[in-house]
Amino acid sequence: MEVNVSAESFESIVPGGEFQEKYKKNNDIIFYRRQRDQAVSQYFASFETLVLTDRGASLELCEQDSQDRLCLQIRATQSGTVRVSLDELQPVKPRYHVSDVLVGELRYEPLRVHWKREDCVCLTWGLGQYKLLVSFSPFKLEISCDEEEIVTLNPENKLYFETLQDPIRSSSDSCQNDENRCGLWKETFRQFEDIKANGPSSVGMDLSLHGFNHTYGLPEHADTLVLKDTSVTEAYRLYNLDVFGYDINSRLGLYGSVPFLLAHKPERTAGVFWLNASETLVDVKYNPEPNEDEDEPPGKKSKVSPQTDVRWISESGTIDCFILLGPTAAQVFSQYAQLTGYQALPPLFSLGYHQCRWNYEDEADVKEVDAGFDLHGIPYDVIWLDIEHTNGKRYFTWDSKLFPNPAELQHHLQKKNRKLVVISDPHIKIDPDWPLYCEAKEGGHFVKNREGAVYEGTCWPGESCYLDFSSSKTRSWYARQLSLSKYEGSTESLFVWNDMNEPSVFNGPEQTMPKDAVHHGGWEHRELHNLYGFYQHMATFEGLLTRSGGTERPFILSRSFFAGSQRLGAIWTGDNVATWGYLKISIPMLLSLSLTGVQFCGADVGGFVQDPDPELLVRWYQAGALQPFFRGHSAKMTKRREPWLFGDDVTSAIRSAVQDRYRLLPYWYTLFHQAHTSALPPIRPLWVEFPNDTRMFAVENQYMIGGALLVCPVTDPGVTEVKVLLPGSDELWYDTNTAAVHKGARTLDLPVTLNTVPVFQRGGTVVPRREGCGSSTADLQQHPITLSVALDSKGNADGFLYLDDGHSFNYRDQMQFCLRRFTMRAGRLVNSCADDQGSFVSDDKVESVVILGLNSLKRKPKLKSGVKRAKVSFCGAPKTAVTFEFDAKRGPLSFVSPYNGGTRAQLLPNTHCSSANGSNPKRRL
Ligand code: NOJ
Repeated sequence: MEVNVSAESFESIVPGGEFQEKYKKNNDIIFYRRQRDQAVSQYFASFETLVLTDRGASLELCEQDSQDRLCLQIRATQSGTVRVSLDELQPVKPRYHVSDVLVGELRYEPLRVHWKREDCVCLTWGLGQYKLLVSFSPFKLEISCDEEEIVTLNPENKLYFETLQDPIRSSSDSCQNDENRCGLWKETFRQFEDIKANGPSSVGMDLSLHGFNHTYGLPEHADTLVLKDTSVTEAYRLYNLDVFGYDINSRLGLYGSVPFLLAHKPERTAGVFWLNASETLVDVKYNPEPNEDEDEPPGKKSKVSPQTDVRWISESGTIDCFILLGPTAAQVFSQYAQLTGYQALPPLFSLGYHQCRWNYEDEADVKEVDAGFDLHGIPYDVIWLDIEHTNGKRYFTWDSKLFPNPAELQHHLQKKNRKLVVISDPHIKIDPDWPLYCEAKEGGHFVKNREGAVYEGTCWPGESCYLDFSSSKTRSWYARQLSLSKYEGSTESLFVWNDMNEPSVFNGPEQTMPKDAVHHGGWEHRELHNLYGFYQHMATFEGLLTRSGGTERPFILSRSFFAGSQRLGAIWTGDNVATWGYLKISIPMLLSLSLTGVQFCGADVGGFVQDPDPELLVRWYQAGALQPFFRGHSAKMTKRREPWLFGDDVTSAIRSAVQDRYRLLPYWYTLFHQAHTSALPPIRPLWVEFPNDTRMFAVENQYMIGGALLVCPVTDPGVTEVKVLLPGSDELWYDTNTAAVHKGARTLDLPVTLNTVPVFQRGGTVVPRREGCGSSTADLQQHPITLSVALDSKGNADGFLYLDDGHSFNYRDQMQFCLRRFTMRAGRLVNSCADDQGSFVSDDKVESVVILGLNSLKRKPKLKSGVKRAKVSFCGAPKTAVTFEFDAKRGPLSFVSPYNGGTRAQLLPNTHCSSANGSNPKRRL
């Protein structure tokens, strides 16, 4: 661990105090050991059992020694995904299947037999580009594209499936004599006993990814972007846990899990999604280890064809494995979103800055902090209340001494277009005098223990019960608690934060719920542990949606998550620490989340635990302003750290970082619209944009915001220079601070001061910004748009701007949106409609266009400061002359419209801005 968080200093806020020892290591996980150490299995199939339907193929598998029989289903979608599912053929009882994660019915293609032999069959579908080779003895499945092998399932015969046994029949099982050692029916970890009602039920499979030696994804871990080879380290553990001040560079499971891995090589990206919600471990083995090749020039092929072997091991459930065939990263994102859903379009306010602390003490404190932002000219949108705002940690209530007039407080904030977020955890204080507890108990809304009584554990309020969000009835009940009539003191400008929803149980094994607790339908907690937080998020989403009659976009932050959580709101990386190492690791952590669909994500700015020094605080604000979810947060016991408490230099540096974030919001919002509709993550590792350049594959200290901005936040103390890798030999990169242009395919030594935030705009792009930043996102809308047009070496540029009302579903239900495209060709900037279904009428104006890169054009334009005339033509209207002013002070070239009530460059009609006579626009520009 990079910093010693002393147990004593946090004793009062973190129970137990024994920190990391309370969590299992790989060797403590018995089902994992059982599989890891077992001899290979021998599954066989035969052609006679193959059944082809218009939705895929099924086949029976039989294990040679145990004679266990499995049913294999192979299905393929039109979009390029192969689904391989395995369940017992004749189970003694049903096994748990994950529901609610996949969106809707998938559309499968009929599979055809391409050719067959006695020992294998080759299937194909669609245009026949992809082939599935099923070998019968032993069973293997190989997927190839145009004769190129992509992935093989069960290459080393590690397919493993513990069929459920009848407890009576299994009592003759020799392991029963020493069952604790075998851990088949009972297991003990520290003082915790886990009784397994269904006995051993683990599943696993290995697969080889051919030609790949870089893999990514599998959040949440505080670790590198590229997944590590786990042959000599701990496997990636996917088990949602509350880990206060977690270690960095660790594969221990954190608050959420997305069992989705991406593999990348030049010319192809692929994905593997393992849909299982029980505890899962993933081993990765590279052959050969990466690194050696990374300094090679792009496109150069190494001699040995690499391969990555991945082994998935889950405690229970079934095997439901999706292979996403790409071939591009964008296609893999889209294939994954077609399975688990697209990123929800956040309400605009939630992309602004959020101010949080455990805790803002009372109403006066909140108002004072709110006023502080105005006083210091720092925009912000949301202030947050942690657990102390409640009456004794009873969520949906208020401490009447500290928050006597919560509705008035919200109105006060709302007048400035600001919102309040309050915390709502999944545990419910046991208090027979509290109607909400009684109602939940009577309604049967709590998780049960293995004896069938209501399960009790401790959390912030002391003895608590845990809502069973896996039941849709409980989710609806919870959703009703958020209605304005039920939730006293709440208004429409109140939004919600779901914390501790792994769930955290202070006196539970690994500080979570025992696996033998029982949910709705009789399912053991072990089956769905990783879904618990997802289901609370879902219930809260339902509550906020219903509160507005289905018209307003909810905003909910959740700590725990699973595949599909992107549909519900934002997540953050939990209890990080105020040190440089945690600032640094926030980047790969957020990139991993972004790659796996959870794109509205952030890390506590400043570090939650401990006190950041002013330099770290500034650098963290600068980095956080470039991350999707931007919230400052600090733990109880830390010193207050509102941005104006550290002297003018610090205030000014933070102000400028936050203001820049606000100015850039038109671009962020456009990127979120893109994520919502096409699944491209707003923040992307460099390899996503430069997929054939192997030197980009492991870069994790810099990344792209959209396709246009490359950012390299400063994450080290005391630096006066940073090295920035500028990719692409054909690229031009414009420093957004100085407008200096740099050629790609080089490492730049960039001098920095405390105020420098290294951001480069890629030549060939157009980035929309607002001229000013306002005091909140609503205020921001008053400011006109500026287009930053960065020319590529041919003088071209492209970009988009998405607009809607920023808060409702009218963009979806009534097509009330506007998507504009800006294209610069031959010195002519054209503003055109990019989606003619949109009918949002915006009175936004483009009043300024900044053009970067004129100097790199072969024919140099002649320009002088002063007034220029240009023509703006509106679709269907005559050309109108507009005067633009060239202001040398504003950068290399900036046209500012005259703000005189004359014609402005309106966004709605098709608008073309070109030079006055149009004869040689390139020269005139
Ligand atoms: C744990 C959360 O991670 C943290 O953000 C919050 O402040 C505390 N719980 C108290 O609610």
